[in-house]
Amino acid sequence: MRLWPESARVDGGRLAIGGLDVEVLCRTHGTPLYIFDEATFRSRCRAYRSALERHYAAESAVYYSGKSLLNIAVARLAAEEGLGIDVVSAGEMELARRAGVPAEQLHLHGNAKPRHEIAWSIEAGVGAIVADNLDELETIEAVAHELGRPIRVLLRFAPGVGAATHSHIQTGQQDSKFGLQPDQLPEALRLLATARWTSLVGIHCHLGSQIFDLEAYPVAIEIMLDLRAAIGRSLGSLLAEFSPGGGLGTAYVDSDPDVSIDSFVAMIASAVTKGCERRSMPLPKLFLEPGRSISARSMIAVYEVVARKDLANGTSTGEVSQYIHLDGGMADNLRPALYGASYHAAVVTRMDAPRDQRVHIAGRYCESSDILIRNIDMPAVAPGDLIAVPGTGAYTLAMASNYNWTCRPALLAIGSDGARLIQRRETIDDLLRREIEVRSDIPA
Ligand code: LLP
Repeated sequence: MRLWPESARVDGGRLAIGGLDVEVLCRTHGTPLYIFDEATFRSRCRAYRSALERHYAAESAVYYSGKSLLNIAVARLAAEEGLGIDVVSAGEMELARRAGVPAEQLHLHGNAKPRHEIAWSIEAGVGAIVADNLDELETIEAVAHELGRPIRVLLRFAPGVGAATHSHIQTGQQDSKFGLQPDQLPEALRLLATARWTSLVGIHCHLGSQIFDLEAYPVAIEIMLDLRAAIGRSLGSLLAEFSPGGGLGTAYVDSDPDVSIDSFVAMIASAVTKGCERRSMPLPKLFLEPGRSISARSMIAVYEVVARKDLANGTSTGEVSQYIHLDGGMADNLRPALYGASYHAAVVTRMDAPRDQRVHIAGRYCESSDILIRNIDMPAVAPGDLIAVPGTGAYTLAMASNYNWTCRPALLAIGSDGARLIQRRETIDDLLRREIEVRSDIPA
C-alpha cells in the first residue's frame, strides 16, 4: 500500500481510509470525492522535522509549500505540526491567516509578485519575502518605505543546475524565469546597500519538483554556499539563513522509486554541513520547503464510472480493450494532461480482483488530452463502480478549474475522530455568483 495514505487498509477487497469504508463515504458525499488522511499529512510533517533535528546540528525550520494543497484545515494541520507555510499570493496568504497561522510563520514567494500583494504581506507582518529579481528588490524597498515597516528578505537564485525531472517543473537551471542569476549578485548588493527598510537575511534556491535523483542538490548547495561566502565578504558578515527549497518526488505508480524524507534531509544536511566546514563558515539556519512529499500521498481521489467505450481491436491479452469514462478528470487533476503524469487506480470494492483488462481511464472533459491514466490493467468495471486514484494530494485540487462549467469536488478529511467535510462541493450557484447579468425570471 505504499502509494496509498498511511491509514488505508483493504478488508474483504474493500478500501477503507482511517477505518471508514470508501464506498460508504462516496455514497454519502457524492463523487468525485477527494479524501484526505490527516494521519499521513501529520506523519510526513513530523518526518521532516525529526530528520532535520537528527541530521542537522544548527537551527532549522520546515515551511510547507502551500501551492501543492492548501485549505483552512491543511494550513491548520501544518501549523499544529510546527511548520511555517510558503505562500505565493495574497490569496494563499490570507487563507493561511484565516486558518490562524501567524503571519510571521509565512514566507512570500513568486517571480511576479504584484506591488499590492507585496504591500499586503508587509502590512500583515509576513516572516520574510523571498525576492526573485532586481526590479522586485526595488519595489519591496519602496513599498516598505511607504508603509514605514521594515521587511526581512531572502534572495532567490537560480544556481544554474538542471534537476532530473520533467522540463515543465525544472526551476534551478540557468534559463529559468525564477530567481536571480548568480552574476546579478553585485547589482542586488548595490541596491541593498542603499535600502533602509529591507534587511537581507538569507538566500534561497529551488531546483524543481518531483525529483528522485538527488544529485543536483549538492551541486546547487555548493554554488549557493559560494554565494553566501561572496555576500559575506561584501557585507562583512554572513547571512544567517539558507533555504534549498523543496522538490522531493513522490511515488505515483509501482515502478516509481521511493526516496525517503529522511534520506533526502540527510543528504541536504550533509551537503550544507560539509560545504560550510570546507569554507570554515558557521552553519546557517536551514529552511526546507517541501510540498508534494507531504501532501501527495495524504489524499486520494474517487470517481464514479459513468460509461465505457469498447475498442474494436482490444483484447485482454495486452491491447487496450476499453475506455472507462469517469465523472471527473482534468478539471480536478490536470497533471496527466500537463506533464504526462502517471497514476495508479483501483476499484474501491474489488481491490484484490485480478487485473485482466487493459484500459484507458478517461475524464469527462471536452479535451482529447483528458485521459487520467493510459494503458492500465484493471478488473472489469461497470457504470456505478467507484475508482480510487492514490497520490492525488499534490497539485490536483490546487490547480483545479471549472472547465466546461463544472463544479470542483468536495474534500473530506479523515481524522482520529472520523470524517469531516473540509471543503464542500462547489455548486452551479457558486459559479453563477460572479456573473453580472443573471436573469432572475427563470425558475432554478
Ligand atoms: N519552493 C518553491 C519556491 C517552489 O516553487 C515549490 C514548488 C516548492 C517549494 C515545493 O516543491 P515540491 O516539494 O512540492 O516539489 N504543478 C507541478 C509542480 C509545480 C511546483 C511548483 N513549485 C506538478 O504538478 O508537478
